[in-house]
Amino acid sequence: MPSLHDATRGRILFGGDYNPEQWPEEVWADDVRLMKEAGVNSVTVGVFSWAMIEPRPGVREFGWLDRLMDLLHSHGMGVVLATPTSSPPPWMGALHPETLPRADDGTVVGYGSRQHFCPSSPVYRGYAKALTEDLAARYADHPALTVWHINNEYCTHCWCDESAAHFRRWLAARYGGIEALNSAWGTAFWSQRYDNWAEVLPPRRAQYLRNPAQELDFKRFTSDALMECYTAERDIVARHTPHIPVTTNFMPLWAGQDAWAWAGQEDIVSVDVYPDPSDPRAGQYNAMIADMTRSQAGGPWMLMEQAAGAVNWRPVNHPKPAGLNRLLSLQSVARGADALCYFQWRQSRQGAEKFHSGMLSHAGENGRVFREVKRIGAELSLIGARVTGSGVPADAVVLHDWDAWWSSTQDGRPSSLVSYTELLQAWHGGLWDGGISADFARPDADLSAYRMVLVPQLQLLKDAAVDNLVSYVRGGGTLVCGFFTGVVDEDDRVRAGGMDSRLRELFGIRTVHEWWPLDAGATVECDGFSGTLWSEEIEADEQAETVAAYTGGELDGLPAVLRKGTAYYVSTLPAPEALRALLGRVAAGAGVRPVLEDLPSGVEAVRRGELLFLLNHGGSRTTVTLRGSHLDLLTGDVADGAVELGRHGVAVLEEVPA
Ligand code: GLA
Repeated sequence: MPSLHDATRGRILFGGDYNPEQWPEEVWADDVRLMKEAGVNSVTVGVFSWAMIEPRPGVREFGWLDRLMDLLHSHGMGVVLATPTSSPPPWMGALHPETLPRADDGTVVGYGSRQHFCPSSPVYRGYAKALTEDLAARYADHPALTVWHINNEYCTHCWCDESAAHFRRWLAARYGGIEALNSAWGTAFWSQRYDNWAEVLPPRRAQYLRNPAQELDFKRFTSDALMECYTAERDIVARHTPHIPVTTNFMPLWAGQDAWAWAGQEDIVSVDVYPDPSDPRAGQYNAMIADMTRSQAGGPWMLMEQAAGAVNWRPVNHPKPAGLNRLLSLQSVARGADALCYFQWRQSRQGAEKFHSGMLSHAGENGRVFREVKRIGAELSLIGARVTGSGVPADAVVLHDWDAWWSSTQDGRPSSLVSYTELLQAWHGGLWDGGISADFARPDADLSAYRMVLVPQLQLLKDAAVDNLVSYVRGGGTLVCGFFTGVVDEDDRVRAGGMDSRLRELFGIRTVHEWWPLDAGATVECDGFSGTLWSEEIEADEQAETVAAYTGGELDGLPAVLRKGTAYYVSTLPAPEALRALLGRVAAGAGVRPVLEDLPSGVEAVRRGELLFLLNHGGSRTTVTLRGSHLDLLTGDVADGAVELGRHGVAVLEEVPA
């Protein structure tokens, strides 16, 4: 199987989406000159080129792309070549309106933007496959081709009749008979029983709350339907070029694709990451997405898109202050990225993204953004050979699962203030604040390599995952589990007792009497800390130890944090500092150490291979004390005992033997 290694060959890939069809060809020469100046070695081409390549049905216009591929190759650039199938040309929607997706209320999603295709449409799929076939045949032997990039950020949901028929086929394969579907969906409720398959629909707009199990299956189905589109194109390019790795770019924390399942279908796992420059936790967010993507990849991963400056899709789009692009870029490398790319190379002058930054901004080659890009390119070439292919050691792992996420987003739950992704971020943030490196894993994965497992929240747990957690703890592992976990089974059916009985036994919970969600901004006092969002009325068994109790209020004296052996249950969301302290104490007991002790506030330390990265998110200059001498690969300086880090500063250190 080809891999990212086949594309990097000891260098970090550096570059970005390149959309030269937006510019006259004279500009291309300037582009490649400046790319070389910036140390760019890889560009992603063709992402939105369908209408240029196929201006009318069946016609092929490859001349411009031939010239572009040759030009890029002659300047030493590798090409990540995209199948342009995420944005069908207007002719398709005009000729075949059934290829356009429909919203849950039947509204047609028109063309004129992008991603306007029904994933179940055989007509769309047919055109996409035909174009992919010709593209792959044409460039299979082109020396610039390094990676295939299929489509772009698969995200469409469709409720049309074609999707309904496809959904029924998917359901029939899952359940066999209609009575099994009725049982899984609990259709005895509200007279929803289906008598035959023809009656079954996607969860369309309805009078009141929709069936949650139907919604859960529709999310599973949509992820699978999109994946069929991906694998169809992947199989075509892989047949032409078995030696070239294939990827499709994920959106981070995007509910629409079960990334664990998708990652298993890719040679390279890639992601698009856009931390908000004005968010004081941008560094933690970037770290979390890196850890997640590395875990999905099982090793080095590709940062397919980030922004050199501002994006254009937030209510207020802040630029990156000087140094932040470099800090977040090197942080991604520290956490396993072997490719660091941007959306996009040259900032657009027209279209919906003309105010979205580029590596080469409207300010041009003398602009601050481009100067920083050049610096990053130069620095990557200094460290590339030392980092590519190497791993990021972690003794802790955070469990993350799409089924659990989907089930937690439904209407009709105890509190709509609880957000699965915010809980993930809070718990990963507790580790990050404590300087502890972590991977992510799915709940049924082999966890034996980790000393500590964290479950921020897994509302839905399949039986196999429950067994996995129980045997992990029985085998001596330390488990810390957040509230409202193990509540429903695979069909979204509430488990007897409101929490799986094996889990209750594991944590020392006799009964969860009631869930007590909190209002926005409200807190619940516990021994030594405040909890937010949630609390629970728990009756513990004799073997459980109350680590912290609720104080005052309805739950006074009842356990807030409970422990039985090495299994901990946390029935509220402790305030950030308290969560950090709790996870730090449990980690110490499990033998999980921070990468470095006693770091100044805001400084992150990460080990990758033999190197130690120090990253200053703190906002002001600081000094890190270190034992022994270290060579900073970025400056060539040797530091004895201490390293200075400027605002947004980074050091990439190698220990110098005494
Ligand atoms: C996504 C897309 C790009 C671009 C950027 C803007 O990541 O893949 O085409 O629209 O967003 O941030």
